[in-house]
Amino acid sequence: MTRILGIETSCDETAAAVVDDGVHVRSNVVASQFDLHAKYGGVVPEIASRAHIERLDAVVREALSAAGCGRDEVEAIAVTCAPGLVGSLLIGVTGAKTLAWAWGKPLVGVHHIEAHALSPALGAESPPWPAAALIASGGHTSLYHVRDPDHIELLGATTDDAAGEAFDKVATILGLPYPGGPQIDRLARQGDPKRYDFPRTWLGRDSLDFSFSGIKTAVMYEVHGHGRTSGGLERLSPQDLADLAASFQEAVVEVLVRKTLLAAERIGVRSVVTGGGVAANSRLRQAMQEACQSKGYAFRPAPMPYCIDNAAMIAAVGYYKLRRGELAGLDLDARPH
Ligand code: KG4
Ligand code: ZN
Repeated sequence: MTRILGIETSCDETAAAVVDDGVHVRSNVVASQFDLHAKYGGVVPEIASRAHIERLDAVVREALSAAGCGRDEVEAIAVTCAPGLVGSLLIGVTGAKTLAWAWGKPLVGVHHIEAHALSPALGAESPPWPAAALIASGGHTSLYHVRDPDHIELLGATTDDAAGEAFDKVATILGLPYPGGPQIDRLARQGDPKRYDFPRTWLGRDSLDFSFSGIKTAVMYEVHGHGRTSGGLERLSPQDLADLAASFQEAVVEVLVRKTLLAAERIGVRSVVTGGGVAANSRLRQAMQEACQSKGYAFRPAPMPYCIDNAAMIAAVGYYKLRRGELAGLDLDARPH
């Protein structure tokens, strides 16, 4: 049994987790900073780094104590080193290096999106690989071919806004608080998804890339008037807002589902997985489930606690990298891009 301590601080969650053999989650501690950033309508990088400094030590201690394990039972320390906010990444990387040095343990640097791609396997009895993986978060929208945890190939990515970014920006346009994704998800349940015909951007029939900036602009013009960026919200009724949220969400979900199934077909797999904050979206989960069922594919969304940023997925990638001998030195650096 190989036990890894994972550390994640790439954006606005301070997280630590203990995971055995890349799958069995012993503890998963996430200190969200959402209350600190809410009044600014988005993540403020300086506030995020400061909060990571203040919280990381306690979060690591809690992860170890919840797992009932001491430092001696930890085989290696895995930390997110890319991509993300540079100031935030640096806190986790520096903390992990310090522990690796003080405890005399190997250090592993982990790519955050690769970790999201493996998150659907966390806690699972059987692995979902090989699979087409849709990773949709606030910073990324990507499709991967995960042959197995050691072989992950990028198939397509967003050319502009990420899906979560579109959810957050549209929520702001509709006057909803940050973070917008869960708010739109909730409001859309009372809305008519067919009332507004928002554009679906395909980027060509066979493209596995995404673009979500056009739909954000379309919602803005629908709310404020064509070519306008403000002033129209007051004339909308609560039902109008719910219909706008539902119609926007439906358009994004349709693109995500159709391209994910196209990816599965192209690489010849019969398994689809989803991860990242947007994978928590209830309409996406429902539509992906229905589409996979009609094709006879297995669908495995990441369990809810592993959709949002967490350190269990970092420890999982850390396990496979340790097995491959891909260790980092104490010169490990944060790479924001
Ligand atoms: O993976 P994540 O926690 O952080 C990043 O790595 O970005 O994703 C956060 C994103 C935010 O844009 C948030 O609005 C979106 O995921 N999100 C959702 C839902 N829950 C979170 N989007 C749509 N529906 C949801 N239920
Ligand atoms: Zn993420």
